[in-house]
Amino acid sequence: MTDTSRDNLFSSPLGKVPAFAFDQAVVDVFPDMISRSVPGYETILAHTGELADRFVQANTHCYDLGCSLGASTMAVRQRIAGRGAKIIAVDNSTAMLSKCKTILEANADSTEVELVHSDICDIEISDASLVVMNFTLQFVPLEQRVALISKIYRGLNPGGCVIISEKLSFEPESLNQLLSELHHGFKRAQGYSDLEISQKRDSIENVLVPETLDSHIQRLRACGFQSASPWFQCFNFCSLVAIK
Ligand SMILES: C[S@@+](CC[C@H](N)C(=O)[O-])C[C@H]1O[C@@H](n2cnc3c(N)ncnc32)[C@H](O)[C@@H]1O
Repeated sequence: MTDTSRDNLFSSPLGKVPAFAFDQAVVDVFPDMISRSVPGYETILAHTGELADRFVQANTHCYDLGCSLGASTMAVRQRIAGRGAKIIAVDNSTAMLSKCKTILEANADSTEVELVHSDICDIEISDASLVVMNFTLQFVPLEQRVALISKIYRGLNPGGCVIISEKLSFEPESLNQLLSELHHGFKRAQGYSDLEISQKRDSIENVLVPETLDSHIQRLRACGFQSASPWFQCFNFCSLVAIK
């Protein structure tokens, strides 16, 4: 990795820290940022592929909602060759999608990928055997989350699966604080300074709105998923699987 792709966006004092956005500056460092910020990210990607292998049915649709640079799309694509399935990868950041297109073209594969520039709340979901939302739901306004999960449920074929990976909040606040401190320890061990950790936290507050694990499970159940469970957790990061 070159120095220009290392995430140092928050390494100098910024004064008033701007609200986090998936703009070109973030795109340029995104792989480094997410792998040094999200404990278990590589494990979640690898098992997104594993779950795709188990759940993707021939000639159906797979959705990668909030695809960023296509890491989850590629994890899925590697495991479903020859099934005639199509991956629909959606993001509302033009900077992300533009670089995603370049990356996918450089890693050609027989499975078709359609890149869609849209808010994930506005797309249609149909004939799906897999929907992946890795670290995206947390950026969707709280009041739109039930409608989005309901739409995913309706768009999945029976036996289809949704993977939802998220940062979590905890109750009581003392437990939230503990898991947050463990996460910050992880980031320090990855080379982030205290200044970077605190400015990034200020930047992303109110942009990334985490919920408790109970809230996720209850919403999935209320939207129709009777079968839903976390399959991975490290500190305050979790991945859930739910089956229709
Ligand atoms: C943390 S990144 C996702 C990482 C990616 N799924 C992966 O596995 O590497 C969140 C992505 O969701 C996108 N996003 C956030 N809210 C969105 C929305 N309402 N509609 C579409 N994309 C959204 C952002 O532009 C960003 O690229």
